[in-house]
Amino acid sequence: GVKKIPNTFGVDVSAASFFEYGSEDELCEGIVAGSITMPYLHIGSGSNLLFIKDYEGTVLHSCIKGIDVTAEDEDRVWVRVGAGMVWDDFVAYCVEHNWYGTENLSLIPGEVGASAVQNIGAYGVEVKDLVTSVETVNILGEKRVFRVQECEYAYRKSIFKRPEMKSVFVTYVNFCLSKKESYMLDYGTIRQELAKYPAVDLKTLRHVIIGIRESKLPDPKILGNAGSFFMNPIVPRVQFEALHRQYPSMPHYDVDEERVKIPAGWMIDRCGWKGKALGAAAVHDKQALVLVNLGGASGADIVLLSDAVRASVYEKFGIEIYPEVNFIG
Ligand code: EPU
Repeated sequence: GVKKIPNTFGVDVSAASFFEYGSEDELCEGIVAGSITMPYLHIGSGSNLLFIKDYEGTVLHSCIKGIDVTAEDEDRVWVRVGAGMVWDDFVAYCVEHNWYGTENLSLIPGEVGASAVQNIGAYGVEVKDLVTSVETVNILGEKRVFRVQECEYAYRKSIFKRPEMKSVFVTYVNFCLSKKESYMLDYGTIRQELAKYPAVDLKTLRHVIIGIRESKLPDPKILGNAGSFFMNPIVPRVQFEALHRQYPSMPHYDVDEERVKIPAGWMIDRCGWKGKALGAAAVHDKQALVLVNLGGASGADIVLLSDAVRASVYEKFGIEIYPEVNFIG
């Protein structure tokens, strides 16, 4: 029956029907029984979605959990993880077992299935660096395993985000993690923060990453949000160089020889939007890349703010920025 759709933006929306399954078999049985009516939408925990209106079809959600070691050698471990597992529970498990790789992705909201769809990333690591394959079931009940090379991973992008892949549901994600000590410490203030501790280890790094995130990103339980609202735009190097002459303090990351990534949060900040509200929607006061629901905002209110922010950035910097959050409806 009609059910509220969970979403971290705290937008009040319902689905005509909701289908939750705890195993591949249950999903296939549901398909055969006709439990999934058109249109349908598979969600994780709703931490990267913005609902503009009620959803007229079936919302699907995986409750497939579990972490199974499928292979192991001296240096590495291979694990198969249920799509419905909470991402940060998986990170905590890896850190506890001294498996290296996921720690920079600590505290990212959402579930394991969505992590492989969205190619979540933070502090110099992307989930694509750890994935070996993605197991799926489609709307006809057919299973298919996508090797990582087939997933078309790029910045916040994968084959699973293509419109025609809406009928393909992730059931398990396979990861390869390292048992040998190795860290990615080159992003932002990580080294600086770590210097306050006697030694670097997995638990300390996880603790530091969690601290950095908590200082900038609002807790959705307190202030509705979906993390970064916009993607960081990637522009031709010549365009960046012209901008850099005008704004010498502009932060930037090299993508390759020809392209440079510019933090949208910095540009939004420079446009004066940080902490500004438009009705019940606002630009977060500690990280301008995040839009927040001050209480009672609708999806449409947040879209209005998003459009206003995009227009400012285009006017000042001549750069189009695009939402990272998926709009539904
Ligand atoms: N900046 C400002 N003002 C702001 C925000 C940022 O000047 O209001 C500047 C910062 O000082 C820094 C630069 O912009 O020089 C980048 O900021 P930050 O390190 O906070 O990261 P980001 O580019 O804004 C990206 C990811 C985050 C991820 C962080 C850390 C995207 C869309 N966002 O944000 O991911 O946690 O890097 O790796 O790529 C998410 O996707 O939901 C998310 C939170």
